Amino acid sequence: MKHILIIGGTAGIGRELAASLLTDGAKITIAGRDSERAKNVARDIQHSVPDATGQISGIAADLSKPEGLREALAGVSSIDHLVLVGMVRDANTIKTYNIAGALELVTTKTVGYPAAIAAVLDRLSPDGSVLIFGGVAKDIPYPGSTTVTVVNNAVMGLVKTLSIEITPIRVNAIHPGMVEDSPYWQDDKELFARMLSRIRSGRFPQMADIVDGSKFLMSNRAANGVNLTLDGGQNGA
Ligand SMILES: NC(=O)c1ccc[n+]([C@@H]2O[C@H](COP(=O)([O-])OP(=O)(O)OC[C@H]3O[C@@H](n4cnc5c(N)ncnc54)[C@H](OP(=O)(O)O)[C@@H]3O)[C@@H](O)[C@H]2O)c1
Repeated sequence: MKHILIIGGTAGIGRELAASLLTDGAKITIAGRDSERAKNVARDIQHSVPDATGQISGIAADLSKPEGLREALAGVSSIDHLVLVGMVRDANTIKTYNIAGALELVTTKTVGYPAAIAAVLDRLSPDGSVLIFGGVAKDIPYPGSTTVTVVNNAVMGLVKTLSIEITPIRVNAIHPGMVEDSPYWQDDKELFARMLSRIRSGRFPQMADIVDGSKFLMSNRAANGVNLTLDGGQNGA
């Protein structure tokens, strides 16, 4: 049974991926910032997937506090795939620049992601992979996206360096466009209606599309150093 650790698996796309992989028969560990929440979400996912043949558990691991990751992940057993999804968005304009929010996001993705890999490297299967999450704001900035755009470009840089550093373990990234059914956007339906004309396929990505792409990058043995954008094709990209 494959074991997959998803840090940021307690909500949104990470949670959807956990449920799908559990259905496929994998053993899943999800992590978020709070242990009780992670355990509760793991239990809810197990209940919501009645025909699951895999097992799921929840632990705490805070990517914005990279110094604590070795200890937080010390109890995790051998891992086939590590998925790094977690973050808190930083909506930040230069005129009202919030340094704390910017530092949290920059730390989470540019230091927390590699620190999490370092913390479990001795238990990562050489046949396995690391999958990290960026986003299409790397190519298409919007007002307030300064930190998000910078960090998502850093994710592309991380893929380049990490796939050399931790070879033969494969390292890939997925860069979603705005994912229409992700819980984060549920109060922003008007925004999606306004932006639909930008999407060449006429359809925003759904969480299932991102889960599908994530599973492809994890399972395809030739996928290494790939930055996969899944946004339906955007004008201006
Ligand atoms: N949804 C989209 O439209 C979209 C578009 C482009 C890119 N993305 C990327 O896709 C990924 C998932 O997005 P989402 O919308 O599904 O996210 P989400 O619903 O906001 O969920 C974020 C997850 O990250 C966890 N998290 C937050 N801070 C963390 C930290 N410091 N350490 C560990 N875990 C942390 C949260 O868990 P706790 O609260 O339990 O800690 C939660 O499980 C992100 O990396 C995002 O940049 C998403």
